[in-house]
Amino acid sequence: MNKKHLFINLTAFLTVQLFAVLPLFAGSYTATDISLTPGKNATKLNLNWQTTSSSTRCAVQIAKSGTTLFKNFVPTTKKTASDLTGASYSYCEVEASNLVSDTDYIYRVGDGTNWSAQHPYSTRNPNKFSFFFVSDPQIGASGDTASDGSSWSNTLVTMTDEFSDAAFIMSGGDQVDTATNEDQYTKFFAPAALTSLPIAPAVGNHEGSAVNFNYHYNLPNESSTYGVNSAAGDYYFTYGNALFIVLNMEPTNSLYPSSGGGGGGGPGGPPPDTDKDGVDDGHDYCPNDVGLATNNGCPEGQTGTKPVPPGGGGGGCSDIISDADFEAKLAAKDMTAFVASINQHKAFMQGAIAANPTVKWKVVMWHYSIYSAGNHAADSQVRAIRYYMVDVLDDLKVDLVLMGHDHAFTRTYQMENDNPQKNQTANSNGQIVDPTGTLYITQSSSSGSKYYDLNCKYPADPYFDYVSAGTQLYKPQFSYISVDDSTLSISTYRTDTMQEIDTYSILKN
Ligand SMILES: [Fe+2]
Repeated sequence: MNKKHLFINLTAFLTVQLFAVLPLFAGSYTATDISLTPGKNATKLNLNWQTTSSSTRCAVQIAKSGTTLFKNFVPTTKKTASDLTGASYSYCEVEASNLVSDTDYIYRVGDGTNWSAQHPYSTRNPNKFSFFFVSDPQIGASGDTASDGSSWSNTLVTMTDEFSDAAFIMSGGDQVDTATNEDQYTKFFAPAALTSLPIAPAVGNHEGSAVNFNYHYNLPNESSTYGVNSAAGDYYFTYGNALFIVLNMEPTNSLYPSSGGGGGGGPGGPPPDTDKDGVDDGHDYCPNDVGLATNNGCPEGQTGTKPVPPGGGGGGCSDIISDADFEAKLAAKDMTAFVASINQHKAFMQGAIAANPTVKWKVVMWHYSIYSAGNHAADSQVRAIRYYMVDVLDDLKVDLVLMGHDHAFTRTYQMENDNPQKNQTANSNGQIVDPTGTLYITQSSSSGSKYYDLNCKYPADPYFDYVSAGTQLYKPQFSYISVDDSTLSISTYRTDTMQEIDTYSILKN
């Protein structure tokens, strides 16, 4: 060990010791579930926290690291509300602004007089930055909330140890398993990394329309018109030359007609949502979908009784109907409300792009993967979202779509008009140069609380011709995405070995 390293180690040791022994840092204000979200742009930061303080005031102070010259931000009034279970909440939402890039800060939250413990927060260079993409930590899904929380924490520690420069996290939904379970929320926000790293969450089907999601995140540019349910509305933010749009697909999903065009739980058909994943789909015959799926869609260790298809033939893998048959199925349904919901997302994205017409990169995220190699790949609802959304994304020239829900990893080819665009130009670095179409990435679980097997028809069925890479490693994973004015590069890692399992880079001139 050289002297420099010795000095750094001693400094780190003394800092840890000082924090450990000085009550000065403990703070006199109780704030729990502190939640940072990207602000409207890189100069802003959104904060949310729960408090038992009797004060009605919410305030935030930030100082440059190494000083105590705290700067105040516009205070707000504490919000109080109750959730679907009748539990009452007091929570605060404050926006910090005029933050300088590439700067280490400390911050504290409070009521303007009493303050919480201090936490570090660092801004990054918005001209050349990176972010993480995680999905479906779904704290509580394994049945052991503490274990899921521990695995989630391990993922955050692993990824921030490896990549200490990320500006924020995009999370593809199902952060918790039970929409109204505050213990799960507390375990989700418990890792220290989340008091320093903003997280932009999509609403997942497990967070549904419960208000708890709304109490826990202070979302930037959140719509009160588009994609709205009691959990959230569509929202967006910019970071440098990139626009990030997050759509709440829950209202859309709930408008998919459950009857008309066949199915619906008749004799031989799957019973409605018996696995309680919020979707009436092809694996509802499983008792529940917790675990490692290995047997034609049922989790490992569960046999389930698969309905006998019309005309007999016995178990095995469900066939995936053709695009033409699926289109006929949609034509037999009243899709008016569903399409209206899709059009809301379209209007929201158009507005976000119109407000930021010069951005180089457009990234969109929602929960339900529409291009997956996993079990949900041919669910009617997600297929309907694909049917109506891809034209919109083509028209808006979206570069990258981030999704979850299937707890398995999928990277598509560049996609346009629902067709894989396989003839792209790669340079000597393997970068795809000025690609046509949009790239879609589906993240596996980032905590490992639940995995789905790859679809039993993948890769044999031509339905999956959109898949360039589809894997299920049954290990928590995350992606690290770096962005500058000309490149967007995505590398995906398994957290147990930090082995890179997929990489893809776009160069845009
Ligand atoms: Fe989901």
